[in-house]
Amino acid sequence: MATLADRIRAVSDLSSDEAEHLRTLCSSWQVLADLSFSDLLLYVRKKGAVERFEICAQLRPFTSQTLYPQDMVGTIVTQPEQPIVERAFREGRIWAQDDPVLVDGIPIRMDAVPVRHHGRVVGVVTKEGSPATSRRPGRLEQVYIQSAEHVSDMICAGRFPYPGTPVGDWPKVGDGLCVLDRSGRISWASPNAVSAFRRFGVKQNILGRYLDDLRIGQTPVQHALTSRDLTDDELSRGESHILLRCLPLVEDEAVAGALVLVRDVSELRQKDREISVKDATIREIHHRVKNNLQTIASLLRLQARRLRSEEGRNALNESVLRIGTIALVHETLSEEPSDVAEFADVVRRIGYMVAEGLVLPERTISLTVTGKTGRLEADLATPLAVTVTELLQNSIEHAFPEESSGSVSIDLARDRGDVVVTVRDDGVGIPDGSLESARLGLQIVRTLIAELGGTFTISADGGTVAVVRVPTKERAPG
Ligand SMILES: Nc1ncnc2c1ncn2[C@@H]1O[C@H](COP(=O)(O)OP(=O)(O)OP(=O)(O)O)[C@@H](O)[C@H]1O
Ligand SMILES: [Mg+2]
Repeated sequence: MATLADRIRAVSDLSSDEAEHLRTLCSSWQVLADLSFSDLLLYVRKKGAVERFEICAQLRPFTSQTLYPQDMVGTIVTQPEQPIVERAFREGRIWAQDDPVLVDGIPIRMDAVPVRHHGRVVGVVTKEGSPATSRRPGRLEQVYIQSAEHVSDMICAGRFPYPGTPVGDWPKVGDGLCVLDRSGRISWASPNAVSAFRRFGVKQNILGRYLDDLRIGQTPVQHALTSRDLTDDELSRGESHILLRCLPLVEDEAVAGALVLVRDVSELRQKDREISVKDATIREIHHRVKNNLQTIASLLRLQARRLRSEEGRNALNESVLRIGTIALVHETLSEEPSDVAEFADVVRRIGYMVAEGLVLPERTISLTVTGKTGRLEADLATPLAVTVTELLQNSIEHAFPEESSGSVSIDLARDRGDVVVTVRDDGVGIPDGSLESARLGLQIVRTLIAELGGTFTISADGGTVAVVRVPTKERAPG
């Protein structure tokens, strides 16, 4: 799926840097929707057109009812339909509609805010709210609306989104909000912010005080006010954790105050800890399974040495190799933070193991591994690892008769939802009739791949090419 920045570039004349600015804006603008109790729409000017705009993004507020239950993205508007959008874009000033207009019988108030980036207007955000559906005005509403105006001014001045905006989830206005004056003193705190600080052990009244004086540790306020950039900090006390995100409000080159979003993340951190304990347990189990498999392999090896019959000895040694491959998958998983492994890592290890066991010192066989499948779950990685071992072993054993050298390559790929593994050698090619042989190797491969619902082909092509394709659970749509 195309990203927002790609879509913006496709419909407009904007540069990739400008489209990226709008994308960052859209990852940060929930705070504006919530503070202004408004729906937000992002308009960009259509490619080559002067008075036509396309809505590229839309956001609904958490603090109020939406005016747009329907999807507005992709709608094209012209100057006569939305005069203030065009005007805000052309003049680079915030425009408010004089009188509320009636849409479906509901009066709607609308502001158009030009989005500036490096001095140039690159889009327009409209804030649309309905006085009839918005909440009973009180102190909270006043403070929110005022803060929203500050943020709008900063968008217009090219100061919002902040340069250091991190990717990922934002704390919400509804989680808790403190408004600071220009010196950093708390001039207002939402009830949820007060509760969050209370749970964190702050018993006194916080109004009129500095966050840094509440004895909760170093807060992000000072840094945000001096750097004028968004600053995050997480404070911890025992099992309690709060995240503070400080947004400095800059007006005419001076800091006019700041907004601090306060989010209690104690539950979240508790979950993180539980997950990491679970991960460690799973890794430990993989580690033990690997050890057990290696023990089984050494027992078989010992037994093989005592056998007189060469055929019996070879059979046991092959089993040792197969069990070793499965152990390798568990070893890789024991080093991963979750029950998935990057399959390229497993394949490299298999390469070392097979080469060490089979390549005679007087032959040089080069092995290359290219591509990636991404991370695979154990139930897919294990049979694929056994498959790769068999194919690689065949190339080394059969493709290069005595004393000749050659190369083997393994290529890994993801094709939509499928994992594709290609093992290729530049050896003698498969002799006629050998594919129907009653030997075990290729039969194991066919059985495993069929169980995974995949396909397996092997053919001669200046050597031998074997291609394995198996579907994964994350099948791409279509
Ligand atoms: N890369 C290759 N180059 C040349 N011949 C091959 C190649 N791969 C397989 N063959 C031929 O196909 C036959 C069947 O392979 P298969 O892996 O099933 O059995 P095997 O390797 O002989 O025995 P096993 O794998 O059970 O130890 C091989 O004996 C060999 O003749
Ligand atoms: Mg074989």
